[in-house]
Amino acid sequence: MSEKKPRVFSGIQPTGEPHLGNYLGAIKQWVKGQDEKENFFCIVDLHSLTVPYDPEGLRERTRKLASVLFAAGIDPDKSVLFIQSHVSAHAEACWLLNCVTPLGWLQKMTQFKDKSAKQESIGTGLIDYPVLMACDILLYNADEVPVGDDQKQHVELTRNIAGRFNNIYGETFAMPAPVIPKVAARVMGLDDPMAKMSKSSSSVRGHAVGVLDDPDEILYVFKRAKTDSYNEIRFSDEEDRAGVNNLLSIYQAITRKSKGDVEADFANARGYGDLKVGVAEVVIDALRPIREESGKYLDDPVALDAMLARGAEQAREVAMPKLREMQEKMGLIMGL
Ligand code: TRP
Repeated sequence: MSEKKPRVFSGIQPTGEPHLGNYLGAIKQWVKGQDEKENFFCIVDLHSLTVPYDPEGLRERTRKLASVLFAAGIDPDKSVLFIQSHVSAHAEACWLLNCVTPLGWLQKMTQFKDKSAKQESIGTGLIDYPVLMACDILLYNADEVPVGDDQKQHVELTRNIAGRFNNIYGETFAMPAPVIPKVAARVMGLDDPMAKMSKSSSSVRGHAVGVLDDPDEILYVFKRAKTDSYNEIRFSDEEDRAGVNNLLSIYQAITRKSKGDVEADFANARGYGDLKVGVAEVVIDALRPIREESGKYLDDPVALDAMLARGAEQAREVAMPKLREMQEKMGLIMGL
């Protein structure tokens, strides 16, 4: 008998344009692991309501992100890709877990502290964000949760919530483990290599490379990338060499070469100009097929929505019984 495949759950927010950091840090890893694992990939639109946004833009970005994911190689015959709000169990479970999560745990989350410092008025959804994320993971009994290192704390919180629920109501949830990619866990901004490439800053030209950007734009942004004055092409964790390190890390994540081989590829470079063009070229080649393929999905939203509906159906088959189990254990009367 074949062994049971580990179950993976991961989520990505439809805020801003999908960029190179999303591609290398999440999307590429998701595509790669499809055969060995049982996968649930979720476009977490409810999470995107926790900070100010434009409703029409959200709808558009959600479809765009879905197209990019399918175009990048998420195969609906191997993985379940769905939109969070299509599976109502997520929001329902969130209420139930809210009632077992101490507020103090949420107030300690660094991401909440960062985000709330930037906003004048904070919606309750922002502090509750990690509980919704815990529901995403726990409804599927996920073993592994691929995330960027900034989300590790949320996965740890998820384990604490699961442990508390199991303690109070009896064994219900599996303990998920965060899985953080070794290479390119964090793609940094090209204009500011001390800040993670992010979708909120990606409207600033020069900060991020969009997955759907055309080759000229990608080359332009790389050419302007911040470097230093050492004129030395090597990996480094020194702060003032972070720009060059980021460029080399991007190149490494795409080519999957060792650090030594990456440095060797640039041994004959005449300077940072050659480095920037060399990195831009591998990025352009990696993103070209995704941009071309995603157009097919975007041009046919009816077909795209049908693919997402199928994903939601498959997700519900797993999430609904888990929600029922929670309701039952918490003392609710099962409706007919
Ligand atoms: N908070 C995650 C991020 O910003 C997205 C997310 C939501 C997620 N739910 C999840 C990631 C569940 C992993 C598992 O990157």
